[in-house]
Amino acid sequence: MHAPAVSATAPIGVFDSGIGGLSVLRALMAELPRERFVYWADNAHAPYGERDVGHVMQRALHVGQRLRDMQGAKALVIACNTATAAAVEALRDAHADWPIVGVEPPLKPAALHTRSGRVGVLATRGTLASARYAALRDALARAHGTRFVDQACDGLAAAIEAAAAAGNAAPAEALLARHLAALGPLGPAAAQIDTVVLGCTHYPLLLQALRQLAGPQVMLIDPGVPVARQTRRLLDGAGLLNRGDAPSARLRLLASGEAQGLQAAAARWLGIEITVQAVD
Ligand code: DGL
Repeated sequence: MHAPAVSATAPIGVFDSGIGGLSVLRALMAELPRERFVYWADNAHAPYGERDVGHVMQRALHVGQRLRDMQGAKALVIACNTATAAAVEALRDAHADWPIVGVEPPLKPAALHTRSGRVGVLATRGTLASARYAALRDALARAHGTRFVDQACDGLAAAIEAAAAAGNAAPAEALLARHLAALGPLGPAAAQIDTVVLGCTHYPLLLQALRQLAGPQVMLIDPGVPVARQTRRLLDGAGLLNRGDAPSARLRLLASGEAQGLQAAAARWLGIEITVQAVD
C-alpha cells in the first residue's frame, strides 16, 4: 500500500447538468459532515437527457478533468443518471486511480419493494435509451419477474431549472403530473404501479408534489442516500476520508451558465447562501 497522492482534506467533486445533483449533494453533506464539496452545474450545456450521447460524454470528461485538475477534487460523484449512463466507463478509463461514484435509477430496491410487480421509472430519454439501463432493467426483470414501465420525462429537468430561477414551480409540477399519469394507474392493486423510481436527480426536487400526485400507497425511491453511503465506502477504502475537524466553508458552487437558479436552489435545498463562480 502506498499513501494516496491526494490529501484527505481535498474536496469531493460533484457534477450534474444543473441543479438536480443538489438532491444528491444534500445526502452527501449529511453523510459526510467533515468533507468539503465543489459542485459544478453544467447548465450552459443542459439538458443532458435530450442531447446525443457524444455531447454528454464529452462534457462529462471535460468537467471531470477540470474538477480534478483545477479544483483538486480527491474523488468524483457523477450526480446525474444521464451522465453516468453515458460516461461513467469513459471517466473510469481516463482516471483509473480516482474514486468515481455514479448514480443509476434505483431499480433493485424497487424490485425488492414492489408487491404488485409493477414499477414505474421516471428518467430522461438519454438514460432510458442507454445500454447500461437496458442491461440493469432486463437482469432485474428476469431475476424478480418485475415489470418496469418507463416514462421519458421530456422537458421536466429544464422545467425544474426554470422553476428554480423564476421561483415558480407550477409549470414544472403540471408537467410532472402529465408524465406521472402516462405511467398508467398507480396504487397497490395487482395491475397497478405501486413503486416509482426517481431516475433523474432533478426529480427529487419536486418530491412534495410527487408525493401528493402519487398518493400515500405508492413508494417513491430516490437514490441520494445510497449514493452518499457508497461514496463514504469508496473514500474509506482509498484512505481518503477526512478524519480532521469539519471545515468551516464546506461548499464551492460553480456554473457554466447562468448562476441565479443554482444560487436560489442551494439556498432552498441546502440552506447555504454563497456566490456561484463562473466556469467554462
Ligand atoms: N439530472 C440529470 C439526471 O439525473 C439529467 C437532467 C438533464 O436532462 O439535464 O439524469
